[in-house]
Amino acid sequence: MMDLKTLLRPEIRELKPYSSARSEYHGEATVWLDANENPFPNGLNRYPDPLHRNLREALAPVKGCNPEQLALGNGSDEVLDWVFRAFCRPGIDEVAYLTPGYGMYEVLAQVQGVATQKVPLDANFNVVAAEVLSQLSLQVKVLFICSPNNPTGNCIDAGQLEKIIQQFSGIVVLDEAYQEFSGQPSWVKRLEEFPNLLVTQTFSKAWGMAGLRLGCIYGAPEIIQVFQALKAPYNLNQLTLDAALKALSGESEVQAQVLQLVGERELLARALQQCPEVVHVFPSEANFLLVRFSDAQRVKQHLLQAGIVVRDRTQQPGCSGCLRITVGTPAENQRVLQTLNTIKT
Ligand SMILES: Cc1ncc(COP(=O)(O)O)c(C=O)c1O
Repeated sequence: MMDLKTLLRPEIRELKPYSSARSEYHGEATVWLDANENPFPNGLNRYPDPLHRNLREALAPVKGCNPEQLALGNGSDEVLDWVFRAFCRPGIDEVAYLTPGYGMYEVLAQVQGVATQKVPLDANFNVVAAEVLSQLSLQVKVLFICSPNNPTGNCIDAGQLEKIIQQFSGIVVLDEAYQEFSGQPSWVKRLEEFPNLLVTQTFSKAWGMAGLRLGCIYGAPEIIQVFQALKAPYNLNQLTLDAALKALSGESEVQAQVLQLVGERELLARALQQCPEVVHVFPSEANFLLVRFSDAQRVKQHLLQAGIVVRDRTQQPGCSGCLRITVGTPAENQRVLQTLNTIKT
C-alpha cells in the first residue's frame, strides 16, 4: 500500500485549514452573529456550508460511495487543480497524461510549474499497461487518464487500466467526465480496492448543468480530507448547492436524456459514414464523435458559414484531418448532416 504522507507536498502535509466559528460549532443555534453577514433574509444572505454536507450526503448513494469519499468543486477543472496543489512540488515533481487527451491537464501543470510527460495512445487510441508504466520517469507523481477519452471518444481498456492503477506507485486520476454515456461502470464503486485512485466526474455533461459549475472528485477519505482543507472555504455558492440537490431528485429525466443522446450518437455516426467528405468516424462512448474528413478545414469553414461550430482537433497527435462534433438535439444533428451534404465535391 502506498504511503500518502510521502506523496503529499510538505506544505500541504503541515497545512492548518481555515476554520470559521460555524464549522467549529455543531449545535442548533438560532442567532448567527459570527460571520459579519447582513442579518436580513433574502435566501442568500448567509455563507454556504463549506463542507457541502447536504449535497455530498445526497450524491454519495447515487454514486455508490460514502460522503467521506467525495469532495465538490467549481467544475471538474477546480477539483483537477487540487490534485496539482496537493501532490506536485513546482520544478520538482512531474505529471503524465495520455495523448491525444483533454487540454486542461497541461494548462494546470503549467500554472503549478510542473513538467509533463505525454504518453501517446496507440493506433486504436488505447494502451498496454506495461508500455505506459515503462515510459514514466521517477519524477512522475500523478498520471491522468481520461475514459471515455476526450477527444477520441473511446474507453481505455479496463483490464489495462486496472494493471496501471495497481502497478503505478503514484496517484492515478481517472477523468470520467463522459462516463454516463458509456457502457462501462464507474470506477467510483471500486475505490476501496485502489487507495491511489482518484476519480473525477462533472455535472456539465450528462447532467446538463455546464452553467452550474459543479465537479466531483472521489477517492480515499484521507485524500479527500486534504482537498477539503486546501480548497477555498466557500468554493461552491448557495445557488449551485440548491440547484444540484434539486437536480439529484430528477435523476430519471437525466437518464432518459442520456439514452436519447446515445441513440442520436449512433444515428449520427451511421449517417456521417455515408457523407462523401467523411473518411472515418471513430467509435464513441461519449456524447461526441471524432470524425476524420478528407479536407477538415474546408468542412469546418462550410459548417461555420452555416452557423455550425465544431471543434478542430487536427493539430492533436493522431488526429490529423479530425473534427470533434458534439451530439446535439435531433434537429441540430440533421442540420449538420444536411449542411455536410451540400458541400460540392
Ligand atoms: C475530459 C474532461 N474533463 C473535464 C472537463 C471539465 O469539466 P467541467 O465543466 O466540470 O470543468 C471536460 C470539459 O470539456 C472534459 O472534456
